[in-house]
Amino acid sequence: MKHTVEVMIPESEVQARIAALGKAITEHYQGTEELVLVGLLRGSCVFLADLCRHIDLPVCLDFMTASSYGSGMSSSRDVRILKDLDDDIKGKDVLIVEDIIDTGYTLSKVREILSLREPKSLTISTLLDKPSRREVNVPVEWVGFAIPDEFVVGCGIDYAQRYRNLPFIGKVVPQE
Ligand code: PRP
Ligand code: MN
Ligand code: MG
Repeated sequence: MKHTVEVMIPESEVQARIAALGKAITEHYQGTEELVLVGLLRGSCVFLADLCRHIDLPVCLDFMTASSYGSGMSSSRDVRILKDLDDDIKGKDVLIVEDIIDTGYTLSKVREILSLREPKSLTISTLLDKPSRREVNVPVEWVGFAIPDEFVVGCGIDYAQRYRNLPFIGKVVPQE
């Protein structure tokens, strides 16, 4: 599809918001022995890298791949775990880090799987939220920006695996 990308949320706003999220998370987990940040690959990697540098706590990073979208533009709703965490999370404070919540299928499935492993606590932070698209309800403790139902890219979010490296949140505009 021929398209252009327009700036929706500029880099400076994204970075200011991520710094504020990191501060709130640091305050919330004051005194924790260890906070495990679970990044959902691939989309979360850029937000995770930015966010973890604003968290002033003993932090560990682990990753999981739960793919549903492939290269398409709409959800298949069939969430598959393609790569599991490397370490056990039993008794740990766990924060799932996501780039975007859309229908909610990915995060509800991941939250369900991880909660069965008996972490001490389990919360979610997502950079973007599209509330109007939600099909399953998932509690999300830290949201960067709630956005309308636009096709967005950048800060880890792809269109056909491209644009994850854009430092701003962009909107994909189809061209005839
Ligand atoms: C995208 C996005 C979220 C998920 C959100 O991932 O990164 O993980 O879809 O959609 P949902 O709320 O409707 O489940 P995708 O499957 O495209 O994989 P990616 O992270 O590798 O891009
Ligand atoms: Mn993803
Ligand atoms: Mg994707």
